[in-house]
Amino acid sequence: MSGSSREFLCKPSRRVQGRFSVPGDKSISHRAVMFGALAQGRTEVSGFLPGADTLATAQILRDLGVAIERTAATGLRIDGVGLHGLRPSATPLDCGNAGTAMRLLTGLLAGQRFASTLIGDESLSRRPMRRVIDPLLQMGARIDCTAAGTAPLQIHAVDGLRGIEYRCPVASAQIKSCVLLAGLYADGPTEVTEPAATRDYTERMLSALGADVSVAGTRVRLNPGQTLRAQPIAVPGDFSSAAFFLVAGAIAPEGELIIENVGLNPRRTGLLLTLIDMGADIEILDQREVAGEPVGDLRVRSSALRAVDVPIERVPDMIDEFPAFAIAAACAEGTSSVRGAHELRVKESDRIAAMARGLEALGVQVQEFDDGMAIEGRADMGGGCIDSQGDHRIAMSFAVAALRATGVIRILDCANVDTSFPGFSELATLAGLSVQVREGGPELSA
Ligand code: S3P
Repeated sequence: MSGSSREFLCKPSRRVQGRFSVPGDKSISHRAVMFGALAQGRTEVSGFLPGADTLATAQILRDLGVAIERTAATGLRIDGVGLHGLRPSATPLDCGNAGTAMRLLTGLLAGQRFASTLIGDESLSRRPMRRVIDPLLQMGARIDCTAAGTAPLQIHAVDGLRGIEYRCPVASAQIKSCVLLAGLYADGPTEVTEPAATRDYTERMLSALGADVSVAGTRVRLNPGQTLRAQPIAVPGDFSSAAFFLVAGAIAPEGELIIENVGLNPRRTGLLLTLIDMGADIEILDQREVAGEPVGDLRVRSSALRAVDVPIERVPDMIDEFPAFAIAAACAEGTSSVRGAHELRVKESDRIAAMARGLEALGVQVQEFDDGMAIEGRADMGGGCIDSQGDHRIAMSFAVAALRATGVIRILDCANVDTSFPGFSELATLAGLSVQVREGGPELSA
């Protein structure tokens, strides 16, 4: 394990207070760059997430010949080249830590008349890619990966693809989006049916740009042949980033937080429902629609939480929020559980194992299942040393846990927090947490 040398040192604190917004949505930011690049005309993106993951996607599209300019800290101007205007890159395309970049770009590149190579960091190079390669092969793509089914991915040049009807074996927006992107280059309609509905930004955005997309229940159908026309894209705040502050506000012994301009797409807000089920004092203020997406300000106050069994059908709607949920569960009265979440094993880390080991280090009792975990809540946690496994969401979740810890929580390998939430430690400190960032400093006893 190489691991970054950045650590968070989180001192216990009790009170949160503040009103602020979180960075732009990661899923929408990735798609804004990709679809803006494939559209005809200029796309102005506002609220773009300037995180390492989404900047990697922007750099890849530049490597493929698209002019992309940063117009402000969160502004991007993309001069689209049209569906057939991408150019081969002389170098491998580096997705860094970003699974969304690699899986969606594999679909986008599978139908091109030129070859590409996609690479990623150590964590991404361990993650399963056959889940996207298999349907693309059925469409006539030619892709090589390692014997383990992982990156590097060599995508060969082809002369068009076939439309297919694909039944996704797992609920995954990345697989669905990958197949739909390849479908733009197919000779006929492409249909994807999911076992459960997942985030729908790809279908919504393609449709807004003029693609012929129809949705019936969990089936999406794309008819190729339309030109995509550039549209301005306003990216709301990322619910998954707001999630850390929702949990912080609920578990803090005192105070309240207001998180402004949070995207509230129902395929993302499972944690909101779960926290409310747990008795969290959360209110949506000023719910509105921005660029076709529901958005609101979330007010959360210190709450006495009770345990919950997460309904299995809600798992896809909170798939990225289980690390934050686990901290809320550790502070709730009673034993909480989640099942049917096997996908957590193949995220940026094995999130079931990473959360279980971390919580145990703080004295919390955890039972690990193949597809989930049970967590026994307690009044407070101890301090301790946590290995985030280089996973941004594990690192941020344990920073929040310090609101209910009796000692310092030292979190290792935190550089990847910048993949999704640049400025997290500063914002957390502003909100009343104590997150000190150390770059490979001398050994400390936690
Ligand atoms: C994402 C889909 C989800 C999610 C990831 C972002 C997307 O992954 O975990 O953070 O933007 O489509 P899966 O499709 O693997 O569930």
